[in-house]
Amino acid sequence: MKKIEIAPSILSADFRTLEREVKAAQDAGADRIHCDVMDGHFVPNISFGPLVVEAVKKCVSIPLDVHIMISDPIKYANDFCSAGADVLCFHAEALNNTDEIKKLLDDIRSKGVRPGVAVNPDKPVDLFISELASIDQVVIMSVYAGFGGQKFIADTMEKVRAVRSAAIEQGLDIDIEVDGGVNGETAQLCAKAGANVLVAGSFVFGSGDYKGRISAVRESAAKD
Ligand code: DX5
Ligand code: ZN
Repeated sequence: MKKIEIAPSILSADFRTLEREVKAAQDAGADRIHCDVMDGHFVPNISFGPLVVEAVKKCVSIPLDVHIMISDPIKYANDFCSAGADVLCFHAEALNNTDEIKKLLDDIRSKGVRPGVAVNPDKPVDLFISELASIDQVVIMSVYAGFGGQKFIADTMEKVRAVRSAAIEQGLDIDIEVDGGVNGETAQLCAKAGANVLVAGSFVFGSGDYKGRISAVRESAAKD
């Protein structure tokens, strides 16, 4: 079983004091910082771009897990690699076919960044499953991309199970990340389905107890 990693999402952080927020999350035991990039086109919300990723990179030593919810990931991926992404995940449904997905995965990897693919709850893993050997991380959205604080969609765990069994079948040691509505209860469902990276936005940031909330997610994921 792969080590469980907790990735607080800065979308729910207090942007007035972003440096203090990400440092506090790191000190509270976060394994990564999840950076949610939104373009107002692929999703009905606008968040931030490479400048914020670059700034966060200067504040913490833990990896930046950058999730780009944008319509043109081919055009902008390199900017996020240069900004300091350690893992860069784009949405499969933003591209036209597996050839485009494979090429973007390879381009990201050529920049020394771990490439990943995300899918919304209503999109099938068939969009990318044939390219699993080129993928370092699969992000299974357990909410519809665009906002923090939404309710966990438990049905999406079926896709986590499908991707984990395909990876095992192919002898691939990939990360499977669940993103959306993860808390001290739902983390257990994610880990049992085969996920090993858990994004927690509103459950951590704004809680006033980063250490307690990160531990609660980790403990829930460890339950049988
Ligand atoms: C949603 C983002 C998620 C979100 C998670 O589009 O990709 O990362 O910020 O926030 P919570 O944990 O509050 O659902
Ligand atoms: Zn995200």
